[in-house]
Amino acid sequence: MLSIKNLHVSIEGKRILKGVDLEINTGETHVIMGPNGSGKSTLASIIAGKTGYNITKGNVYFLNKNLIDLSPEERAHLGIFLSFQYPIEIPGVSIINFIKTAINSIRKAKNMDKISAREILSKVKKISNQLNIENDFVYRSLNEQFSGGERKKNEIFQMMMLNPLLSILDEIDSGLDIDALRIVSQGINTFRSEKNSVLIITHYKRLLDYLLSDYIVHILYNGKIIHSGDEKLVKKLEKEGYNWIDQKNIHC
Ligand SMILES: Nc1ncnc2c1ncn2[C@@H]1O[C@H](COP(=O)(O)OP(=O)(O)OP(=O)(O)O)[C@@H](O)[C@H]1O
Ligand SMILES: [Mg+2]
Repeated sequence: MLSIKNLHVSIEGKRILKGVDLEINTGETHVIMGPNGSGKSTLASIIAGKTGYNITKGNVYFLNKNLIDLSPEERAHLGIFLSFQYPIEIPGVSIINFIKTAINSIRKAKNMDKISAREILSKVKKISNQLNIENDFVYRSLNEQFSGGERKKNEIFQMMMLNPLLSILDEIDSGLDIDALRIVSQGINTFRSEKNSVLIITHYKRLLDYLLSDYIVHILYNGKIIHSGDEKLVKKLEKEGYNWIDQKNIHC
C-alpha cells in the first residue's frame, strides 16, 4: 500500500530524513519509535503532504501512485489520514460538520453522492459507543477548550468515521488517562482490518500493550530506520532506552 524509497528530507537546509525505506502492506500495522527530534513527525507530514519540507531524494508511493506531486487533499481522497501530534483548533466548526465535510469531499472525488443525515448519525452513534464518547460531544467546536485526552479521542473518532486506507497516528497516546488509553487502543484494534493499514508513532510501550501484537516496529534514529522487529524490540527499548544503539554503525 505504502512504499517509501530512500527518502531524504531537509527543512530550511537542515537534513532531517537521511534515507528512509519503509514498506507497509494492506492489513499491516507498523509502529515507529525513536528519540525526540529523530524525524518521526516529519515522516508523517511528508506522507500526508504537509508543505514546508524539501524532498531532496527518494519517493513515496501509495497504491502505486507517486505521492510527491499530490496535494494533501488529493492524498486524503486516496485514503490517507493523519492524526496530529498537536491537533488544531477550529472555533465555530463542530466536529460533526467537520467530519461531514471531509467525508463528502472524499465521496465527491469518487463521484459518490453526499452521505445522508441518517447514515452519518448512525455511524456517529456506533463509533461514539465504541469510544465511550458522550453523544453531544460531536456538536462541540473542533478542539476548542478540549482537554488533551479529548483531542486525542476526537482524532481516533475522526479516523473511524472517515475509514481511511492508511491511518497515521502521531503520538495518539500522549495525554490520555489509563481508561482513555485502553479505549483508544481498543478503537484501533476494532478499526483494523485486512483492507486497511495503520502507522503508529509512539514513545511508549503502554499503548502497544493493548494492541493486537502482530505489529512491525521500526526505530527511527537520526533520520534513518536503523532497526525493525516485533514486540521484543519494544521490550528492549522500554528496558534499555536508545543507549544500546551502536553509534559507530550509524552513517549519516
Ligand atoms: N518547521 C520546522 N522548521 C525547522 N526545523 C524543524 C521543523 N520541523 C521539524 N524540525 C526539526 O526537525 C527535526 C525532526 O523533528 P520531528 O518533529 O520530525 O521529530 P520527532 O521525531 O517527531 O520528535 P518528537 O518525538 O519530539 O515528536 C527536529 O530537529 C526539529 O527541530
Ligand atoms: Mg513528533
